[in-house]
Amino acid sequence: MSQVSMTVNGKRVTGEIEGRTLLVDFLREDLGLTGTHVGCDTSQCGACVVHVDGEAVKACSVFAGELEGAEVKTIEGMAEADGTLDHVQQAFQDHHGLQCGFCTPGMVMSAHALLKDNPKPSEAEIRDYLQGNICRCTGYHNIVKAIMAASGQDVSGIAAE
Ligand code: FES
Ligand code: FES
Repeated sequence: MSQVSMTVNGKRVTGEIEGRTLLVDFLREDLGLTGTHVGCDTSQCGACVVHVDGEAVKACSVFAGELEGAEVKTIEGMAEADGTLDHVQQAFQDHHGLQCGFCTPGMVMSAHALLKDNPKPSEAEIRDYLQGNICRCTGYHNIVKAIMAASGQDVSGIAAE
């Protein structure tokens, strides 16, 4: 066992971990942050996407021990303390960008990372960026629409699905 310290959602945390402990397991099991989901064991589904030092990272693909001193943000850190959703979460709600919700935390975290680099992405750019996030329910249409709306673009011409 070894010790690791990082900042998670603005709070300094320290944990005892094994060398093989993945970030997603540290978040879920040690810190109780179960909003970060595990949907595969092949690093393909994107349900586990969090931000590490501002970049989108699949939390199942990185060891917690590599993140000494890192700034990590999870879906639990996105809404305001009073529960007010952040603008991407709100857009997902407004445009029905989720059904079962399993993929949603990863989708929201990926969407934020996309919008940071590309504030007004086209529909094609959103679909391309989300190739690492799998949704079994929505057919992606409303997810794309929600992200376009979150970026301030007019989605009135995009048909509902
Ligand atoms: Fe990380 Fe599927 S659980 S990509
Ligand atoms: Fe169910 Fe995406 S809403 S997996």
